[in-house]
Amino acid sequence: MPKPLPFPEILTRVARSVGTPTYVYFERTIRKQIERLHGALEMVPHRLLYAMKANGHPQILRQIQTAGVGIDAVSPGELLLALRMGFRPEDVLFSANNMTTGEMHFAHRQKVLLNIGELSRLEAYGKAYPGADVCIRLNPQVGAGHHEHVITAGADSKFGIPVEFMPEIISVLEQHGLRLRGLHQHIGSGIPDPATLWDAVSVLLKQAAEFPDLEFVNLGGGLGVPYRPDESPLDLGDFASRFGDTLAAFSRTHDTEVWFEPGRFFVAEAGVLLATATTIKDNGDRCFVGVDSGMNHLVRPTMYGSYHEILNLTNPDGALRPYDVVGNICETGDRFAKNREVAEIREGDWLAILDTGAYGMSMASHYNLRALPAEVWVPEDNPAQFRVISERQSPAQLVGRIMREAVMPSA
Ligand SMILES: Cc1ncc(COP(=O)(O)O)c(C=O)c1O
Repeated sequence: MPKPLPFPEILTRVARSVGTPTYVYFERTIRKQIERLHGALEMVPHRLLYAMKANGHPQILRQIQTAGVGIDAVSPGELLLALRMGFRPEDVLFSANNMTTGEMHFAHRQKVLLNIGELSRLEAYGKAYPGADVCIRLNPQVGAGHHEHVITAGADSKFGIPVEFMPEIISVLEQHGLRLRGLHQHIGSGIPDPATLWDAVSVLLKQAAEFPDLEFVNLGGGLGVPYRPDESPLDLGDFASRFGDTLAAFSRTHDTEVWFEPGRFFVAEAGVLLATATTIKDNGDRCFVGVDSGMNHLVRPTMYGSYHEILNLTNPDGALRPYDVVGNICETGDRFAKNREVAEIREGDWLAILDTGAYGMSMASHYNLRALPAEVWVPEDNPAQFRVISERQSPAQLVGRIMREAVMPSA
């Protein structure tokens, strides 16, 4: 059974009035996901941040802010956007990977807490700002994730200071009088069972117990969402009943908050990428459906072999037929689905590619010099009042921008 199509009438109206390719985001889904996580953690004094790398559209950041959720920023650009959107510095954690010295000074000047995951960078920070507050990203040596490229802990991972280096960490902290406010981990992305997080959490809590003045432990993001029709949503209730009491007890005994910083969990299911089938190529043993989008708009299938449900918005009740749904980029890997059953597709049909709110537009590029999709926001209180939140760029605008920004010798 394919996944159900969310708000088919709204999506149809968007496709008709805005065109394709277009990302459509549903405010309602984001709100529900935030509430689900808060609900599951209600017995634990906790704080939520949003990993804005999942989707940094200002409209989404506005909703995140209104919900009282802070920001995990991983670059000066993300940091600046968060601050310009009105997040207070104390609501932002700066977790740049392999931070440059310039980025370090920049983030410090913005008065945000730096989350440092390399000993040499910690040393540099201590030398530059003795006595400063800091958070440390540990590698608990337990990783997990939907693909090997997104496992961010363990021996193979570049992230975090390996937990065995705790004596060295303590020595750098003491040498420069740095005040350790938080310990952090993020072990990977798209973790289907939160219980697998627990092995890593146990490592972190054991370390955290050694620091009496610690204000928080940040358990990172990584909560998975069901992309395939046969996958179930995370059982957060089960997580809460198995681990909630331990977290709550830790928090009480050590007077620390527990932080989570999901990206995907909040926004993935809120997004649909609409595309038009431009070309049907039936090669006998294989039927290719070419669409007006591609890996430059949604790279997850190409990069990770990720599954995204594809539904025919125009002909939802058509007979199921197997298709290879491919993009318009000059790469054989530019494929959204292989041998996938979809209700019969005709040229001109609108297709809905589901669960594309996270790591869709934020990973999009102009590869092949193709413009980015438009983006549309569907408000919860009146979905029919959807509005364009990013205009579709025309090829002429794209080329004009490149020519304007190019530095060329004068003729
Ligand atoms: C430090 C950090 N926190 C949180 C996240 C969010 O991960 P997810 O979107 O899987 O929740 C990431 C993703 O790469 C990350 O690097």
